[in-house]
Amino acid sequence: MLKKFKAKEVSIPKVVAETLAFINRPNAIILIEGNLASGKTTFVKEFVKYFDIGDEVNSPTFSIQNIYGSNIHHYDIYQKGVSEFLKLGLFEMLEESGYHLIEWGNIELASILKKYGFQYWHLKIEILEDSRIYQVSDEWLS
Ligand SMILES: Nc1ncnc2c1ncn2[C@@H]1O[C@H](COP(=O)(O)OP(=O)(O)OP(=O)(O)O)[C@@H](O)[C@H]1O
Ligand SMILES: [Mg+2]
Repeated sequence: MLKKFKAKEVSIPKVVAETLAFINRPNAIILIEGNLASGKTTFVKEFVKYFDIGDEVNSPTFSIQNIYGSNIHHYDIYQKGVSEFLKLGLFEMLEESGYHLIEWGNIELASILKKYGFQYWHLKIEILEDSRIYQVSDEWLS
């Protein structure tokens, strides 16, 4: 199953709402794939706003995760990589209820999650001049 949107920055709230409707559950792991400056953190900001949480959203580049409200978990695996994150206890963190948004989620992480029985969604963001293409799928999109 796949959903695809093209959206400028002002329309990201709609992309968030549609993504949540597509996922349709209160617990989910979302692997966010996208080049530098494609809009991964911006998506997480709008995701947090959707739930009326006023917390400041920053990419957790050096920390392991940020938690907004009681159950939105935000990770960025770019610096540490997948194996380091696993050593730091990623599986235990992912078992916490709520949403887990992972910037720089990749196919390596996707296959490990699948192997260990974690369901995930893939959010792929591509740059298109002054807008972005968002694709959400319940399996890894190649
Ligand atoms: N849908 C969109 N349409 C147009 N511009 C966007 C959209 N989403 C984000 N942007 C812009 O893209 C730029 C990069 O956004 P952001 O920092 O969220 O990217 P990122 O993927 O998290 O970057 P990094 O790879 O550094 O983590 C920002 O200037 C932001 O305003
Ligand atoms: Mg970012």
